Amino acid sequence: MCGIVGVLGSHEASPILVEALKRLEYRGYDSAGIATVNGGTLDRRRAVGKLVNLSDLLVHEPLPGKSGIGHTRWATHGAPTVVNAHPHKAGPVAVVHNGIIENFRQLRAELAELGLGTESDTDTETVALLVQHHLRAGLSPQGAAEATLGRLEGAFALCLLFEGEEDLLIAARRGSPLAIGHGEGEMFVGSDAIALAPMTNRITYLEDGDWAVLTRHSAQIMDAEGHAVERPVKTVNIDLARIEKGGHRHFMAKEIAEQPSVIGDTIRHYAGTREIVLPEPGLDFSQYDRVLLVACGTANYACFVAKYWFERIAGLPAEVDIASEFRYREPPIPARTLAIFVSQSGETADTLAALRYCEGRVDRIASVVNVAESSIARGSDIVLPIFAGAEIGVASTKAFTCQLTVLHMLALKAGSDRGVLSGTEMETRLGLLSSLPGLVNHAVGESAEVERIAREVAEVEDALFLGRGAMYPLALEGALKLKEISYIHAEGYASGELKHGPIALIDQTVPVVVLAPSDELFDKSVSNMQEVMARGGRILLITDPAGARKAGDGCWRVLTLPEIAADLAPILYAIPVQLLAYHAAVAKGTDVDQPRNLAKSVTVE
Ligand code: F6R
Repeated sequence: MCGIVGVLGSHEASPILVEALKRLEYRGYDSAGIATVNGGTLDRRRAVGKLVNLSDLLVHEPLPGKSGIGHTRWATHGAPTVVNAHPHKAGPVAVVHNGIIENFRQLRAELAELGLGTESDTDTETVALLVQHHLRAGLSPQGAAEATLGRLEGAFALCLLFEGEEDLLIAARRGSPLAIGHGEGEMFVGSDAIALAPMTNRITYLEDGDWAVLTRHSAQIMDAEGHAVERPVKTVNIDLARIEKGGHRHFMAKEIAEQPSVIGDTIRHYAGTREIVLPEPGLDFSQYDRVLLVACGTANYACFVAKYWFERIAGLPAEVDIASEFRYREPPIPARTLAIFVSQSGETADTLAALRYCEGRVDRIASVVNVAESSIARGSDIVLPIFAGAEIGVASTKAFTCQLTVLHMLALKAGSDRGVLSGTEMETRLGLLSSLPGLVNHAVGESAEVERIAREVAEVEDALFLGRGAMYPLALEGALKLKEISYIHAEGYASGELKHGPIALIDQTVPVVVLAPSDELFDKSVSNMQEVMARGGRILLITDPAGARKAGDGCWRVLTLPEIAADLAPILYAIPVQLLAYHAAVAKGTDVDQPRNLAKSVTVE
C-alpha cells in the first residue's frame, strides 16, 4: 500500500510527480504529498484525500524544483491528516515510505531522548528524524541513510531527498517493491514501472535489501550487506492504453469489458491444439502428490475454484489456504507437494510471506501473477503470467478471470501429466476453452440487463450469494465484490449450508443470488431455492437457458447466460457477478475504482 515516486529531472518535477502519483493512486488514496529541492531549499505540499486535492493546492501554492519525491497514502499508522501525510520532513531531509517500520516506537523513544520529538503519528517520521540525527553527527547523506537503514525493522520502500542536494535521491527496498527508471540525463524512482511509464521504460528492479544512491547520470546500488552490486536494466513494455479508461466511466467497467480479449490472450499463451505448454522450466504434475494453493481475497477464491478443477479433472488432491493464516500456522507439508501462489500484484505481503515459508519445504514453488517482475514472481521456481494487463480498479475483475483461466489450464496439464486425461479428452477440452472468450463476450453484453437488476439491488442492505461445487467460491467472490464497492453487506455460502444457519436471515428484504448452471448439481440448488422462496425470499437466479426453463418460475429475477461446459462455468459466471456489483455501486454513487478504506496492492500484513 502507498505509492512512492522520485524524480531527478530536467523539467519541473511537481507535474511529473503528480502524474506518476496518479498512476499509483490505486495503491492508496487517503492523502498525497510531494517535496522538491529548489535553489537548495527543501519544501513540501501535502493534502488530505484524493490526489486532485494536492493538484488544487499546487495551483495556489506551486512547488518549483527539478528534483522531488511524492507519495500517495493508504494509512497504517495515524489517521489521514495533513500532519500524517508524506513526505515527512526533519530538518534537511524529506522521506516518502511504503510499508511499516515495525520498531518505530522504540526508535521514537530513542529520538525523544535525543531531543528529537515527532509531529505526526506515523512510523515514517522516525526515519526522517534518524537521518537528520546522523546528518547532524556529521555523516554524509549516504552515510546517514546507511546508518538509518541499519536501524529499521519491518518491510518498506523508501525514497529520501536532501536539502542542498539537487542531484541526489536515496532509495531503499526491504520487502516492498521499488523500481528505478533510467531516463536521458534523468533518473526516476517508483513503486512500480507503471508509475514511470510515461517517462521511461528502462527499469531496474531493486532486490530485497538493496539500497541505491541516485544522480541524474548514475545509479549506484548496494545490497543488504552494503556491497556494490549490478542489477540489470530491463526494457519493460507497458501498454499505456491499458492504463487509460478508454472511454469508459470507470476503470472497473473497462476492465470487465476487456475480459473476452485478455482471456483470449491468456489462452493463446498456454494452449496449443493438443497440449498445454508452460514456460521454462515447466512443470510435470506426475511428480507431485498434492497441490497447495495460497493467496488472499479474490485471488484466494480463484484458488478455491482451482481446487475443484485439480481434484475433478486431474484426480490430484488440492488444498487451499488464506495466506495470512497459512503463514503463521506453520503447517507441516508432506513430500511431493507443489505450492502455487496466486497474486495479481505479486506483492501482497501475506502471500509473499507464505511463499517464503514454503521455500525449502515444498518440492516446487509456482506463481500465477499479473506482474512478471514482482516479488512473488521472483521468489518462484516457475512463473505463470496471467496476461490480464494492468488492472487499475481496486476491485479485481479481469485478473480474477485470467487467474482462473491459467489455473484451469494447469489442471488440464495435471490431468494429462498424470494420465487421467487422454489425448482426445485434452483436445476436446482445449476446443471448449477456445470458445470461452466468445461466451464471455456474450456475458459482458448482458450489462444493460444486469444494470436494471442492480438498480434494485442497490436499495437493499444485505444480500446472500449461494453456489454449489465450483460455484461456491464464485458465491464468495460475488459477495466480496458487492461489499467492497457498493458497501452493501453480502455473504457467500455453499447452498447446502443454507439450512445450517443463514436461512434465518431470509425475508423479502434480503435478495439471494443463486449461481446455478444446469449441471449435475442443479436440482440440489433448485431445492435450496425452494427453501428460500418458501420463506418469502427473493431469488436472483443466474443460470443458462435450460436452467431458466426448469427453475425460472417463481424467481424474483433470472439472468440467462449461454450454455457452457461445466468446468468452464466459474469463469463465465464471474462476469454477471462483477457487473452486478459494478452497477449497484454506480447506482449508489460510491467511488467504484477507489472504494473507501481499500488499496489495490496490500504490501503490509
Ligand atoms: C478484491 C481484491 C482483493 C485482492 C487481494 C489479493 O477485489 O482485489 O481481494 O484479490 O488483495 O491481491 P493480489 O492478487 O494482488 O495478491
